[in-house]
Amino acid sequence: MLQKIIEKINTLKKNKNAVILAHNYQIGEVQDIADFTGDSLDLSRKAASCDADVIVFCGVYFMAQTAAILSPQKTVLLPDKTAGCPMADMIGAEQLADLKKKHPDAIVVCYVNSTAEVKALSDYCCTSSNAVDVVNSIDEYRDIIFVPDKNLGQVVKQRTGRDMILWPGYCPTHVFATPDDIKRVQQQHPGAVTLAHPECPQAVRDCADVLLSTGQMLKFVKQSEKKEFLIATEIGIIHTLKKQNPEKVFYPASEKFLCPNMKKITLEKVLFSLEDDKYIIEVPKDIADKARIALDRMIAILPKG
Ligand code: 13P
Ligand code: SF4
Repeated sequence: MLQKIIEKINTLKKNKNAVILAHNYQIGEVQDIADFTGDSLDLSRKAASCDADVIVFCGVYFMAQTAAILSPQKTVLLPDKTAGCPMADMIGAEQLADLKKKHPDAIVVCYVNSTAEVKALSDYCCTSSNAVDVVNSIDEYRDIIFVPDKNLGQVVKQRTGRDMILWPGYCPTHVFATPDDIKRVQQQHPGAVTLAHPECPQAVRDCADVLLSTGQMLKFVKQSEKKEFLIATEIGIIHTLKKQNPEKVFYPASEKFLCPNMKKITLEKVLFSLEDDKYIIEVPKDIADKARIALDRMIAILPKG
Protein backbone atom coordinates (compact mmCIF):
# COMPACT_ATOMS: atom_id res chain seq x y z
CA MET A 1 0.00 0.00 0.00
CA LEU A 2 2.71 2.45 1.12
CA GLN A 3 4.88 1.47 -1.83
CA LYS A 4 1.94 2.07 -4.22
CA ILE A 5 1.44 5.57 -2.83
CA ILE A 6 5.14 6.34 -3.17
CA GLU A 7 5.16 5.11 -6.79
CA LYS A 8 2.14 7.26 -7.65
CA ILE A 9 3.71 10.31 -6.02
CA ASN A 10 6.93 9.81 -7.98
CA THR A 11 5.07 9.42 -11.30
CA LEU A 12 2.96 12.53 -10.72
CA LYS A 13 6.01 14.46 -9.63
CA LYS A 14 7.76 13.67 -12.92
CA ASN A 15 4.68 14.43 -15.06
CA LYS A 16 4.10 17.77 -13.37
CA ASN A 17 7.75 18.78 -13.00
CA ALA A 18 7.09 19.04 -9.28
CA VAL A 19 9.50 19.13 -6.37
CA ILE A 20 8.70 18.09 -2.79
CA LEU A 21 10.20 20.25 -0.04
CA ALA A 22 9.88 19.04 3.56
CA HIS A 23 10.71 20.70 6.85
CA ASN A 24 12.86 18.83 9.38
CA TYR A 25 9.80 18.45 11.68
CA GLN A 26 7.76 16.42 9.18
CA ILE A 27 6.94 12.77 9.84
CA GLY A 28 9.66 10.35 8.68
CA GLU A 29 7.76 8.99 5.66
CA VAL A 30 7.22 12.49 4.31
CA GLN A 31 10.84 13.50 4.86
CA ASP A 32 11.91 10.32 3.07
CA ILE A 33 9.88 11.04 -0.07
CA ALA A 34 11.03 14.68 -0.26
CA ASP A 35 13.53 15.91 -2.84
CA PHE A 36 14.89 18.28 -0.27
CA THR A 37 14.58 18.58 3.51
CA GLY A 38 15.83 21.45 5.63
CA ASP A 39 15.19 24.29 8.02
CA SER A 40 13.19 27.40 7.18
CA LEU A 41 16.13 29.20 5.57
CA ASP A 42 17.27 26.18 3.51
CA LEU A 43 13.72 25.67 2.26
CA SER A 44 13.21 29.35 1.37
CA ARG A 45 16.45 29.32 -0.62
CA LYS A 46 15.47 26.09 -2.35
CA ALA A 47 11.98 27.36 -3.19
CA ALA A 48 13.50 30.47 -4.75
CA SER A 49 16.21 28.67 -6.73
CA CYS A 50 14.68 25.37 -7.92
CA ASP A 51 13.41 25.19 -11.50
CA ALA A 52 10.27 23.11 -10.87
CA ASP A 53 6.82 24.23 -12.06
CA VAL A 54 5.15 22.96 -8.90
CA ILE A 55 6.35 22.96 -5.28
CA VAL A 56 4.62 20.61 -2.85
CA PHE A 57 5.45 22.18 0.49
CA CYS A 58 5.40 19.76 3.40
CA GLY A 59 5.48 22.14 6.32
CA VAL A 60 3.15 24.80 7.70
CA TYR A 61 1.21 27.61 6.03
CA PHE A 62 3.72 30.45 6.44
CA MET A 63 6.42 28.29 4.83
CA ALA A 64 4.28 27.61 1.73
CA GLN A 65 3.32 31.29 1.65
CA THR A 66 7.02 32.24 1.75
CA ALA A 67 7.70 29.90 -1.18
CA ALA A 68 4.79 31.47 -3.12
CA ILE A 69 6.14 34.98 -2.45
CA LEU A 70 9.67 34.03 -3.52
CA SER A 71 8.51 32.13 -6.63
CA PRO A 72 5.32 33.75 -7.93
CA GLN A 73 5.66 31.93 -11.26
CA LYS A 74 5.47 28.49 -9.57
CA THR A 75 2.39 26.70 -8.27
CA VAL A 76 2.86 26.15 -4.53
CA LEU A 77 0.78 23.42 -2.91
CA LEU A 78 0.27 22.79 0.82
CA PRO A 79 -1.16 19.25 1.27
CA ASP A 80 -3.21 20.31 4.33
CA LYS A 81 -4.32 23.91 4.34
CA THR A 82 -5.17 23.78 8.05
CA ALA A 83 -1.48 23.20 8.91
CA GLY A 84 -0.83 26.61 10.44
CA CYS A 85 1.70 28.01 12.89
CA PRO A 86 0.07 29.55 15.98
CA MET A 87 3.11 31.76 16.55
CA ALA A 88 2.80 33.27 13.07
CA ASP A 89 -0.74 34.35 13.92
CA MET A 90 0.25 36.03 17.19
CA ILE A 91 0.80 39.37 15.47
CA GLY A 92 -1.44 40.79 12.75
CA ALA A 93 -0.74 43.59 10.27
CA GLU A 94 -2.79 46.11 12.27
CA GLN A 95 -0.89 45.37 15.47
CA LEU A 96 2.44 45.76 13.69
CA ALA A 97 1.27 49.00 12.05
CA ASP A 98 0.35 50.36 15.52
CA LEU A 99 3.75 49.36 16.91
CA LYS A 100 5.48 51.06 13.98
CA LYS A 101 3.51 54.25 14.69
CA LYS A 102 4.87 54.22 18.26
CA HIS A 103 8.45 53.76 16.96
CA PRO A 104 8.40 55.51 13.58
CA ASP A 105 12.18 55.39 13.07
CA ALA A 106 12.65 51.74 14.00
CA ILE A 107 13.72 49.04 11.56
CA VAL A 108 11.34 46.06 11.62
CA VAL A 109 12.77 42.54 11.61
CA CYS A 110 10.21 39.77 11.38
CA TYR A 111 10.85 36.10 12.01
CA VAL A 112 9.88 34.06 8.94
CA ASN A 113 7.18 32.48 11.17
CA SER A 114 4.83 35.35 10.34
CA THR A 115 2.03 36.15 7.89
CA ALA A 116 2.65 37.62 4.43
CA GLU A 117 0.95 40.85 5.59
CA VAL A 118 3.39 41.20 8.50
CA LYS A 119 6.35 40.51 6.19
CA ALA A 120 5.03 43.21 3.85
CA LEU A 121 5.27 45.74 6.71
CA SER A 122 8.79 44.62 7.68
CA ASP A 123 12.22 45.77 6.52
CA TYR A 124 13.96 42.44 7.01
CA CYS A 125 12.90 38.88 7.46
CA CYS A 126 15.04 36.34 9.34
CA THR A 127 15.03 32.72 10.44
CA SER A 128 16.51 31.19 13.56
CA SER A 129 19.68 30.34 11.62
CA ASN A 130 20.44 33.89 10.46
CA ALA A 131 18.63 36.23 12.89
CA VAL A 132 21.91 37.33 14.55
CA ASP A 133 23.53 38.06 11.16
CA VAL A 134 20.46 39.99 10.00
CA VAL A 135 20.38 42.16 13.14
CA ASN A 136 24.16 42.69 13.01
CA SER A 137 23.79 43.99 9.45
CA ILE A 138 21.55 46.86 10.66
CA ASP A 139 23.13 50.23 11.47
CA GLU A 140 23.86 50.18 15.20
CA TYR A 141 22.18 53.53 15.86
CA ARG A 142 18.79 52.36 14.55
CA ASP A 143 16.07 51.10 16.89
CA ILE A 144 14.85 47.61 16.01
CA ILE A 145 11.38 46.07 16.39
CA PHE A 146 11.56 42.26 16.42
CA VAL A 147 8.37 40.20 15.86
CA PRO A 148 6.73 37.84 16.72
CA ASP A 149 8.93 35.44 18.75
CA LYS A 150 10.07 36.91 22.07
CA ASN A 151 12.32 33.91 22.77
CA LEU A 152 14.30 34.11 19.54
CA GLY A 153 14.28 37.88 20.09
CA GLN A 154 15.88 37.45 23.53
CA VAL A 155 18.59 35.18 22.08
CA VAL A 156 19.36 37.76 19.39
CA LYS A 157 19.50 40.53 22.00
CA GLN A 158 21.93 38.49 24.11
CA ARG A 159 24.15 37.62 21.15
CA THR A 160 24.25 41.04 19.49
CA GLY A 161 24.01 43.29 22.55
CA ARG A 162 21.24 45.22 20.74
CA ASP A 163 18.30 46.49 22.79
CA MET A 164 15.37 45.51 20.59
CA ILE A 165 11.64 46.11 21.02
CA LEU A 166 10.16 42.60 21.29
CA TRP A 167 6.63 41.37 20.55
CA PRO A 168 5.34 38.85 23.15
CA GLY A 169 4.77 35.97 20.68
CA TYR A 170 5.97 32.42 21.29
CA CYS A 171 5.80 28.87 19.94
CA PRO A 172 3.32 26.76 21.95
CA THR A 173 5.32 23.61 21.18
CA HIS A 174 8.64 25.01 22.41
CA VAL A 175 7.30 26.64 25.59
CA PHE A 176 5.44 23.54 26.76
CA ALA A 177 8.45 21.56 28.06
CA THR A 178 9.80 22.63 31.47
CA PRO A 179 13.41 22.79 32.73
CA ASP A 180 12.51 19.90 35.10
CA ASP A 181 11.50 17.76 32.10
CA ILE A 182 14.87 18.43 30.47
CA LYS A 183 16.89 17.92 33.68
CA ARG A 184 15.18 14.56 34.29
CA VAL A 185 16.31 13.27 30.87
CA GLN A 186 19.77 14.80 31.36
CA GLN A 187 20.14 12.83 34.61
CA GLN A 188 19.30 9.62 32.74
CA HIS A 189 21.94 10.36 30.07
CA PRO A 190 24.69 12.33 31.79
CA GLY A 191 27.13 12.07 28.86
CA ALA A 192 24.72 13.52 26.28
CA VAL A 193 25.07 16.96 24.69
CA THR A 194 21.84 19.01 24.92
CA LEU A 195 20.84 20.89 21.75
CA ALA A 196 17.95 23.37 22.06
CA HIS A 197 16.11 25.55 19.56
CA PRO A 198 16.15 29.33 20.23
CA GLU A 199 12.33 29.24 20.39
CA CYS A 200 12.66 27.59 23.82
CA PRO A 201 12.15 29.89 26.81
CA GLN A 202 15.13 31.17 28.81
CA ALA A 203 14.80 28.58 31.62
CA VAL A 204 15.03 25.73 29.09
CA ARG A 205 17.76 27.46 27.09
CA ASP A 206 19.75 27.65 30.32
CA CYS A 207 19.72 23.82 30.47
CA ALA A 208 21.19 23.51 26.97
CA ASP A 209 24.82 23.18 25.86
CA VAL A 210 24.12 24.84 22.53
CA LEU A 211 21.28 26.77 20.81
CA LEU A 212 20.77 25.98 17.14
CA SER A 213 18.24 26.12 14.30
CA THR A 214 17.15 22.70 13.05
CA GLY A 215 19.54 22.87 10.08
CA GLN A 216 22.39 23.86 12.37
CA MET A 217 21.56 20.90 14.67
CA LEU A 218 22.00 18.50 11.75
CA LYS A 219 25.39 20.01 10.88
CA PHE A 220 26.52 20.13 14.53
CA VAL A 221 25.75 16.45 15.16
CA LYS A 222 27.47 15.32 11.93
CA GLN A 223 30.65 17.17 12.91
CA SER A 224 30.59 16.28 16.63
CA GLU A 225 32.77 13.55 18.11
CA LYS A 226 30.16 12.97 20.84
CA LYS A 227 27.91 9.93 20.65
CA GLU A 228 24.76 10.93 22.59
CA PHE A 229 22.48 13.92 22.11
CA LEU A 230 19.41 15.31 23.85
CA ILE A 231 17.17 17.14 21.42
CA ALA A 232 15.14 20.08 22.76
CA THR A 233 13.07 20.82 19.70
CA GLU A 234 10.27 19.17 17.72
CA ILE A 235 10.80 15.40 17.72
CA GLY A 236 10.44 15.05 13.90
CA ILE A 237 14.08 16.04 13.48
CA ILE A 238 15.20 12.89 15.31
CA HIS A 239 14.23 10.85 12.23
CA THR A 240 16.81 12.62 10.06
CA LEU A 241 19.39 12.77 12.84
CA LYS A 242 19.21 8.98 13.19
CA LYS A 243 19.27 8.43 9.43
CA GLN A 244 22.33 10.63 8.94
CA ASN A 245 24.17 9.36 12.06
CA PRO A 246 23.38 5.65 12.55
CA GLU A 247 26.26 5.28 15.03
CA LYS A 248 24.95 8.04 17.34
CA VAL A 249 22.07 8.03 19.84
CA PHE A 250 19.34 10.65 20.21
CA TYR A 251 16.85 11.26 23.01
CA PRO A 252 13.96 13.72 22.93
CA ALA A 253 14.65 16.18 25.78
CA SER A 254 10.89 15.96 26.39
CA GLU A 255 8.05 14.12 24.64
CA LYS A 256 6.16 17.43 24.76
CA PHE A 257 8.17 18.77 21.81
CA LEU A 258 5.49 17.87 19.29
CA CYS A 259 4.01 20.34 16.79
CA PRO A 260 0.52 19.08 15.87
CA ASN A 261 0.44 21.24 12.75
CA MET A 262 3.68 19.85 11.36
CA LYS A 263 2.24 16.36 11.85
CA LYS A 264 -0.84 17.03 9.70
CA ILE A 265 0.94 16.25 6.43
CA THR A 266 0.84 12.56 5.48
CA LEU A 267 1.94 10.63 2.39
CA GLU A 268 -1.72 10.24 1.36
CA LYS A 269 -2.21 13.99 1.53
CA VAL A 270 0.95 14.54 -0.54
CA LEU A 271 -0.55 12.23 -3.17
CA PHE A 272 -3.96 13.99 -3.13
CA SER A 273 -2.17 17.28 -3.35
CA LEU A 274 -0.37 16.28 -6.54
CA GLU A 275 -3.45 14.58 -8.02
CA ASP A 276 -5.82 17.49 -7.56
CA ASP A 277 -3.47 20.50 -7.31
CA LYS A 278 -4.47 21.25 -3.78
CA TYR A 279 -4.21 23.39 -1.86
CA ILE A 280 -2.82 26.19 -3.99
CA ILE A 281 -1.24 28.91 -1.84
CA GLU A 282 -1.38 32.34 -3.39
CA VAL A 283 -0.49 35.75 -2.01
CA PRO A 284 -2.04 38.94 -3.47
CA LYS A 285 0.53 40.66 -5.71
CA ASP A 286 0.70 43.95 -3.79
CA ILE A 287 1.43 42.13 -0.52
CA ALA A 288 3.82 39.63 -2.11
CA ASP A 289 5.83 42.39 -3.83
CA LYS A 290 6.38 44.17 -0.49
CA ALA A 291 7.02 40.97 1.49
CA ARG A 292 9.57 39.83 -1.10
CA ILE A 293 11.78 42.84 -0.32
CA ALA A 294 12.17 41.72 3.33
CA LEU A 295 12.73 38.10 2.26
CA ASP A 296 15.25 38.97 -0.46
CA ARG A 297 17.23 41.04 2.06
CA MET A 298 17.32 38.01 4.37
CA ILE A 299 18.45 35.65 1.60
CA ALA A 300 21.19 38.09 0.53
CA ILE A 301 22.81 38.04 4.01
CA LEU A 302 25.20 35.13 4.10
CA PRO A 303 26.03 33.55 7.46
CA LYS A 304 29.31 34.64 9.07
CA GLY A 305 31.96 32.05 9.83
P1 13P B 1 13.98 26.17 11.82
O1 13P B 1 14.13 27.31 10.88
O2 13P B 1 15.08 26.07 12.81
O3 13P B 1 13.80 24.90 11.06
O4 13P B 1 12.67 26.40 12.70
C1 13P B 1 11.39 26.44 12.16
C2 13P B 1 10.34 26.37 13.18
O5 13P B 1 9.18 26.50 12.93
C3 13P B 1 10.77 26.12 14.53
O6 13P B 1 9.68 25.88 15.32
FE1 SF4 C 1 5.08 27.12 14.60
FE2 SF4 C 1 6.15 26.12 16.79
FE3 SF4 C 1 5.10 24.46 15.02
FE4 SF4 C 1 7.40 25.77 14.50
S1 SF4 C 1 7.04 24.22 16.05
S2 SF4 C 1 5.66 25.53 13.13
S3 SF4 C 1 7.00 27.72 15.52
S4 SF4 C 1 4.00 26.02 16.21
